[in-house]
Amino acid sequence: MAVRDILLMGDPRLFRVAKPVTAFDTDELHLLVSDMLDTMHAANGAGLAAPQIGVDLQLVIFGTNAPNPRYPLAPPVPRTVLINPVITPLAAPGDADPQWVDDWEGCLSVPGLRAKVPRCQRIHYAGFDPFGDPIERTVEDFHARVVQHECDHLQGKLYPMRVHDFTQFGFTSVLFPGLDAAADD
Ligand code: NI
Repeated sequence: MAVRDILLMGDPRLFRVAKPVTAFDTDELHLLVSDMLDTMHAANGAGLAAPQIGVDLQLVIFGTNAPNPRYPLAPPVPRTVLINPVITPLAAPGDADPQWVDDWEGCLSVPGLRAKVPRCQRIHYAGFDPFGDPIERTVEDFHARVVQHECDHLQGKLYPMRVHDFTQFGFTSVLFPGLDAAADD
């Protein structure tokens, strides 16, 4: 168990397309997950992707089972380890097409900043847990946003690449002066 260094935007390892995990329930994989959980908790992150600690694998973790001090108004998302994920955009019931919604995001690899980022409001996602058991969920809103943000890391994408209105991109301390001082990234 160890807190690992989080790579910052500009590091070329954040821009790779990650490789699929091929061996499940190994000591190596469980150790990686354990290190990622320690690292996410130490940084109060809503999620973390393996490329953010320099590991070139399709593995993300997210969720806290409790309110997150960096996102105090966000509803709890169940703690999840998701491997080799596949996301499918879904239309909300009664809608013909998937809806895209702008909301605020931050990233541990882009400390001190937030931006409004468009994400699909409702998605289905599928993948595997570290034991190789399948995970399948249909989710909305903040949960859907977190999954899309983390899975973007596996495609070498950071949220600033999706910002379309740069008046809605700035320093957390300016945009949200009341936010907990510890929530600076
Ligand atoms: Ni991120």
